[in-house]
Amino acid sequence: MAQKLNSQQLMDLEAKYGAHNYHPLPVVLAKGKGAKVWDPEGNEYYDFLSAYSAVNQGHCHPKIVDAMVRQAHELTLSSRAFYNDCLGPYEKFMTEYFKYDKVLPMNTGAEADETALKLARRWGVVKKGIANDEVTIVCCSGNFHGRTITIITMSDDPDSYANYGPLTPGFIRIPYNDTKALEEVLEKHGKKIAGFLVEPIQGEAGVYVPDEGYLKKSYDLCKKHNVLFIADEVQTGIARTGKMLACDHENVRPDILILGKAVSGGVYPVSAVLADDEVMLTIKPGEHGSTFGGNPVACKVAEAALTVIKEENLAEKAEYLGRIFREEIKKINSPMIELVRGKGLLNAVVIKPTAGKEAWDVCLKMKELGVLAKPTHGHIIRFAPPLVITEEELRDAIDRIKKAILSFTA
Ligand SMILES: Cc1ncc(COP(=O)(O)O)c(C=O)c1O
Repeated sequence: MAQKLNSQQLMDLEAKYGAHNYHPLPVVLAKGKGAKVWDPEGNEYYDFLSAYSAVNQGHCHPKIVDAMVRQAHELTLSSRAFYNDCLGPYEKFMTEYFKYDKVLPMNTGAEADETALKLARRWGVVKKGIANDEVTIVCCSGNFHGRTITIITMSDDPDSYANYGPLTPGFIRIPYNDTKALEEVLEKHGKKIAGFLVEPIQGEAGVYVPDEGYLKKSYDLCKKHNVLFIADEVQTGIARTGKMLACDHENVRPDILILGKAVSGGVYPVSAVLADDEVMLTIKPGEHGSTFGGNPVACKVAEAALTVIKEENLAEKAEYLGRIFREEIKKINSPMIELVRGKGLLNAVVIKPTAGKEAWDVCLKMKELGVLAKPTHGHIIRFAPPLVITEEELRDAIDRIKKAILSFTA
């Protein structure tokens, strides 16, 4: 029988044989159930990252895993060269669930973002009448939409874009949470702008929540200038912020909606772009696609994952538990806590380095005490547990987080 490797051996293998494009917390996950995960040694942790909000429904949700296994025994991949018996029903399910005319299935968040950009550009050329080489997309400072060359073009984080050679033309970046800037750019360049791409809350930037009214005001400005409002809800969507979509907080219905991550409950890579016919039907057969997009397993997994969200009232739960989380963390009396912010169960604590200790040290200490979270941008810790976490589990985890933070200042 093969010898079971321990955490150190497993980390050493990754360091030796894997590309060094990540800097993980030194913990190895070998099992997950609900809001908890275990390492190969059997140590138990609360997962407060949820695979960047992909595991909203909790680890290894039995209904989702079941759907995957059942379909895997029937048919895993047809490609889109042929029809399959899962895609049509899934597309009907998705368009009814999110109330759009059409869905375009992809696999990862970045692919869905790319698809949305292509759709917006196409619509800009064929419907709005913008010259092909002038069509422009407006994006925001601090954005994170993924890792492809075109997407990193929009980024203002050198870690994302530097030294990757020539980038993609056709973007204007404006400050986030600034409707004045949006108004100005639309007034000045509106005729060649096809879309405004925005995250309703910027997750990777450190759970940056814009002012109330920002989304609605931005949407209205887009309408005024015949510009598509494109929401990247890859991280904020699927109940994470206390509503099905973060845009729902302001009753905004994006012209193009981008979903990923928790569409599958973290069980399988599934992403989706939703839009109405006027936009979606501008792409014709053979003009865009993906071998795996809309594969039978993905369809069944996503249907199950989205059904779980409603059956278990996970949006309402995120709203309720999120309030408790922020209230309790704000009570911690430590100079290290500079700011607590978030919506639903997408929250962040801004850490002020104290006595030489920073966010990374807090995360290591929390790990020791059984809570896993990861810093973003060095000084911000994101807290986003699976939405199936119980109130009792949440309060237990908060106690541990508190102990970890106080251990540096007591
Ligand atoms: C808002 C947003 N868009 C897109 C992506 C990219 O998704 P993926 O890593 O599946 O390509 C992410 C990933 O964190 C994200 O947070």
